[in-house]
Amino acid sequence: MALAAVIKPSIIKAADAKDLVKGLERMGCGPQDVYVKTFDSAYDSSSLFPSGHIRLRDWEGVNPTIKHSNGQHIADEFRALKRMHDTLPKNVATPLALFGNMHGEVKGYLSEFVKGTCLHDYFVQPDLWAQYGLVARDVLHELVRVVAELNARAIGHYDMADYNIMVTYDGKVVLIDPFPALRSTRRTDTDLVHDILDRATLMGMITPEEYNDLSYTLLTSPQER
Ligand SMILES: Nc1ncnc2c1ncn2[C@@H]1O[C@H](COP(=O)(O)OP(=O)(O)O)[C@@H](O)[C@H]1O
Ligand SMILES: [Mg+2]
Repeated sequence: MALAAVIKPSIIKAADAKDLVKGLERMGCGPQDVYVKTFDSAYDSSSLFPSGHIRLRDWEGVNPTIKHSNGQHIADEFRALKRMHDTLPKNVATPLALFGNMHGEVKGYLSEFVKGTCLHDYFVQPDLWAQYGLVARDVLHELVRVVAELNARAIGHYDMADYNIMVTYDGKVVLIDPFPALRSTRRTDTDLVHDILDRATLMGMITPEEYNDLSYTLLTSPQER
C-alpha cells in the first residue's frame, strides 16, 4: 500500500521523537520509509530512525534535518511540497503528514524517503553517473521537463538548487525542499536550472549540442510568474 494511504491524519500529535516513531509503527510504517524534517531537537530521532539506505555523505541525508525554522515556515513548506506533488506526483517527494506537539504547535513534517542521492553529489563525484548506470543527458532532460511543467502551471519551487534535486538510483528526478514563495533576492527556477545545464556542459557531462537542445527547451517553455 502506498505510504500516503497508510499515514492518514494530516497532523500527527507526538510529544517527541520516540512518540513519533511509536505513532508511525502503529500505522504500519517503518522509520526507513519516511524522511523527518523538523526544527525542534526534541524530535531529533537520528538514532531511532536508522536509515537503511546508502548515504554518500554521512553528514547529509541523515534523518531528520534539524532546521532553524518555525512552525509556520515548515507548514508553508509542506503545503508548497503538496502543491507541487499534486501536479507532478512522480517527480516530487510525497508529502505524508505534518506533526506537532500536544498543544497543536507544528514541529515538522514527514515525507517519503527518496531512495537516491542529490544532483549535487553528481557534480562532486562525476563517476557516479557510470556507477549507477545513468546518463546525464537523460536525467537533465527530465529535470528540464519537470521545471517546464511547473512553470506552465505557475507553480514555483523557489529553491531549485542541486541539493534539492534528488536523483533516484533508477534515474528519476524527485524534487524536495521547496521554499514557500519567491523571494525578491532569489533567482528563478529557470535561471537556477540553466546554471545547472551550464555547469554540466563545462564539466563535460553533456555535449554542447545536448546543451543547446536542453537550453532551448527550457527557455522556450512558459516562464514562471
Ligand atoms: N525526502 C527525502 N528523502 C531522502 N533524502 C532527503 C529527503 N529530504 C531531504 N533529504 C536529504 O537531506 C538533505 C537536506 O534536506 P532538505 O530538506 O533539503 O533540508 P534543508 O532545508 O536543510 O536544505 C537533502 O539535500 C537530501 O540529501
Ligand atoms: Mg535543501
